Amino acid sequence: MKTIVVYKSKYGATKEYAQWIGKELDCQVTDAKLVSVEDLLTYDTIIYGGGLYAEVIDGVRLITKNFDRLKEKNLIVFSTGITPLDCSEYYDKMVVEKNFKPEMRTSIKTFYFLGKMILSELSVVHRTAIKALKKLMASKENPTEMEKLLVDLCDADGDFTDRNAIHPLVEYVKAL
Ligand SMILES: Cc1cc2nc3c(=O)[nH]c(=O)nc-3n(C[C@H](O)[C@H](O)[C@H](O)COP(=O)(O)O)c2cc1C
Repeated sequence: MKTIVVYKSKYGATKEYAQWIGKELDCQVTDAKLVSVEDLLTYDTIIYGGGLYAEVIDGVRLITKNFDRLKEKNLIVFSTGITPLDCSEYYDKMVVEKNFKPEMRTSIKTFYFLGKMILSELSVVHRTAIKALKKLMASKENPTEMEKLLVDLCDADGDFTDRNAIHPLVEYVKAL
């Protein structure tokens, strides 16, 4: 079975997971900038990874825009973010619903891993966006639990990547 891991990564967290997965599966790992849908069509299993930015899986349109051509493949998408792992409702509902149309949700197997956010490394645009988000959430009179969590997440500063987290994805692909 021919497998490829494709990733888009701004600060390196998703790239790191992509490389770990590629090592475990002994398969090609490529930056999304360097692949076209025609390249992807030559593989049986396509694993796409992207960081979460305002709940959007960075670059996942490479898969979703070409879903009709890729839907017969084994499709796996992983994303990385700073939302804690126990917020499954956040991932299963908000992220999945925002990124995948209903017909895609049954054909694309999804995984979520903790990423990293080093505040001093963020671009000016990203740092400003995080500050604005925190201000907005903190100004809510009756914040929901999710909004309260978002205020705290805006201060998250660290590398939360974990190599062991890839095992469920690796086992899933090995069992295909
Ligand atoms: C502007 C901005 C928006 C973000 N939005 C989210 C988000 O919606 N959900 C989340 O869990 N993490 C969010 N994050 C955290 C990133 O997803 C996290 O840093 C991820 O590991 C980045 O992946 P990369 O290093 O491969 O680009 C955001 C970070 C920034 C800077």
